[in-house]
Amino acid sequence: MTDPTAASAPTPPEVGRSAEEQLPNRQTPFSAPFRAFIPEGWAPYPADLPDPLPATGHAPARRAALSAQFAGDRLVIPAGELSVRSNDTDYRFRPHSAFAHLTGLGTDREPGAVLVLEPTDSGHDATLYFKPRAPRTDPEFYADARYGEMWVGQRESLAEMQALTGLDCAPISQLGEALAKNAGSTRVLIVADADAQLTATLNGQRTALGLGAEAASDEQLAVALSELRLVKDAFEIEQMRIACDVTADGFEAVVAALPEAVWRGRGERWVEGVFGLHARHAGNAVGYDTIAASGDHANTLHWIRNDGDLRPGDLLLLDAGVELDSLYTADITRTLPVGGRFTPAQRRVYDAVLAAQQAGIAAARPGATFADVHAAAIRVIAQHLHDWGLLPVDVETSLNPETGGHHRRWMVHGTSHHLGIDVHDCALARQQHYREGTLQPGMVITVEPGLYFKSSDLLVPEELRGIGVRIEDDVLITETGCEILSARLPRTADDVEAWMARMLF
Ligand code: GLY
Ligand code: MN
Ligand code: MN
Repeated sequence: MTDPTAASAPTPPEVGRSAEEQLPNRQTPFSAPFRAFIPEGWAPYPADLPDPLPATGHAPARRAALSAQFAGDRLVIPAGELSVRSNDTDYRFRPHSAFAHLTGLGTDREPGAVLVLEPTDSGHDATLYFKPRAPRTDPEFYADARYGEMWVGQRESLAEMQALTGLDCAPISQLGEALAKNAGSTRVLIVADADAQLTATLNGQRTALGLGAEAASDEQLAVALSELRLVKDAFEIEQMRIACDVTADGFEAVVAALPEAVWRGRGERWVEGVFGLHARHAGNAVGYDTIAASGDHANTLHWIRNDGDLRPGDLLLLDAGVELDSLYTADITRTLPVGGRFTPAQRRVYDAVLAAQQAGIAAARPGATFADVHAAAIRVIAQHLHDWGLLPVDVETSLNPETGGHHRRWMVHGTSHHLGIDVHDCALARQQHYREGTLQPGMVITVEPGLYFKSSDLLVPEELRGIGVRIEDDVLITETGCEILSARLPRTADDVEAWMARMLF
């Protein structure tokens, strides 16, 4: 498959151009007869409009909550642009999470689109600017590998996008004009790998309108968009349940595939592949790169190279999550004995981590702070390390952030994070709403303590070296405590062994 156009040269070349004018070297020019022939003989586009997206009924309340925080300000929230992987090959598109949250668009929709909330006397009017499909008389149809129907499929018309999202829609070509109209102030969310075209447009408008520098990148808006997702609505909670459920399916498929992963070699990759198959089939993708870490690799917290063998006496730490088409993701870790049975040393570490996780889950209740969950779990970790003679100080000294922290040698990460459209959701939320924030019904967080004894760690007994264990579940804060959304997967060592036995033996 070759691209007939260059992104920088949207007009297809014509026969008869000089050699200097020829566009990319792989391109076959389009003849005049082809251009005359190609628009003919196609069935009309469907007359019926599509059903609304599943999130369409929920997005207006999200937009209203944002609107209430920014009375009088124009808010510009881009989806982001396609990002080049290499030469003319792009990465698969994933919209910015805030854009997905406010529009209900998921999967790969919609590169280059921009949501604008225009201030009114009573709030904001929302308009979705995007590139609607061009008629088949337009060269885009056959010659534009990024947007053309022959290359990426039939995209929406304005009316179809409006039906899907419930939003007023306008062509992206009208965005510049819309932004040129004066507004009290314009706040823009700059997407991570920002979009040079939009930035240029906004820079131009900023100059023309004499707006301040905040028009280019608005920290307050970015923070508000992140905090807007701290408490999930009913649709989001349902999506999280489904994400956890299909992730459990993926874990079961991995267990069933363990013997094959062992004999094939590079078993970590096999595990990653089996889980990835389920993620792509049941949802959009994996919510983050799968960590399939066996043996000592489990002690590398973000081990995603996944090129190791699986050995029957070792553990496999599998940290993986399915991201649904709505982009909500699970984030679950199980540490599994590859051969189906824990050794006594592995079980000792496993049980300590499980006890820490139970303490963390017990602390995850409304009214507690996010930090309380970590405090409860890490105390159990520190106590076990002390009981095993590993801590050079007493537990209280180690837990005191000023005087200690020695236990962190064996669990350097936090116990929890918010989870949702992003695996590390709401990452820009302010400290007082995140780490120091009070847990509220509707929040979804992970509880994921671990213990990591590197093979090179001479301070731990030899029998523990090379053992790494993490147990990670996704919990919904409820009115009375929390619900473990990932409870379908067993957690105790006995239950894990029994569950694996059903699939392995
Ligand atoms: N999988 C990344 C995390 O657990 O935070
Ligand atoms: Mn996590
Ligand atoms: Mn994880």
